[in-house]
Amino acid sequence: DTVFHPQTLPDLSNLLTMSGMMEYLGATSFGNHRSVLQFDFKESLPDLGPNELLIQVAYVELNPVDLQKLNAKPSQDVPNPPLIVGYGGSGTVLEVGSGLVNQRTDWVGQLVAFLCDARRPGAYATHVAVHVQSVAKIPFAISLEHAATVPLAGCTAYESLVKLQIQPSTPDQHRKLLIVGGSGGVGSWATLLARARYPHLEIICTAGSELSQNWCLRNGATRVVPHSSLVANLGGGRDGSVDYILCLSTPTKELANDMSELIRPYGHVCLVAPPKESL
Ligand SMILES: NC(=O)c1ccc[n+]([C@@H]2O[C@H](COP(=O)([O-])OP(=O)(O)OC[C@H]3O[C@@H](n4cnc5c(N)ncnc54)[C@H](OP(=O)(O)O)[C@@H]3O)[C@@H](O)[C@H]2O)c1
Repeated sequence: DTVFHPQTLPDLSNLLTMSGMMEYLGATSFGNHRSVLQFDFKESLPDLGPNELLIQVAYVELNPVDLQKLNAKPSQDVPNPPLIVGYGGSGTVLEVGSGLVNQRTDWVGQLVAFLCDARRPGAYATHVAVHVQSVAKIPFAISLEHAATVPLAGCTAYESLVKLQIQPSTPDQHRKLLIVGGSGGVGSWATLLARARYPHLEIICTAGSELSQNWCLRNGATRVVPHSSLVANLGGGRDGSVDYILCLSTPTKELANDMSELIRPYGHVCLVAPPKESL
């Protein structure tokens, strides 16, 4: 029943052929993000792969992962400078790749949210080419601005839940998911998605302030506990107390010890952030 935005820009092909160029915010080298970003880059519109859409960017999200990428050293996965960062955003589809010609009228003019491929130029640009599988039409009730914030945090949460291989609760086995850092960007999506997908799952979130606790409960958490004293609050030991742990906080030795106490035999743990020290 979802209603999508009507095609709001009727003659987009004119817009496309008139300019033929895109502008972008590029990083001239790797290093401190404060000194390497420049606004004045211009180049031809990206070549479209067969299953890609050319999108005129309206909004891009700012994400710490962009800073991590800029601050990192060049690697095989990262194209040479000038590097365009920015993973998620929203905009209007202007053109389709050769493999999507039959779907042209479905896509051209649609308002969409998208997630860029980390190995390709990103979204801090006027235009971006994105694989059709990483693009979603925006439902009518959602603004372009809000939609731009969904793809990266939402897909990270979704992928984490898939990796946890959560089984539905049964009358004999009441399953529990612990989300460490449930009130943040990824944690909020993980709570909402887990609640929608597994109605009988017990979802326990860790949260700091009262505001965060209430937010987690509103998103569908069954219970909220403080970030610390997890074993004391939830119970640990040989049999553990939770079936799945989604850890969104950088694991310290203390948190790793707690998680190994909390997890039930054959349970699954997903670490989104790598540990900074050897555990
Ligand atoms: N956001 C994304 O799109 C994205 C994408 C890929 C990967 N990631 C990674 O996912 C992780 C979470 O990112 P995020 O954007 O969701 O973070 P965020 O929005 O900044 O949220 C941070 C969370 O950490 C919690 N927290 C604070 N102190 C804590 C502690 N001592 N122990 C446990 N949790 C604590 C906060 O809870 P309170 O405020 O309630 O204290 C809050 O829920 C990061 O490692 C990030 O690099 C994020």
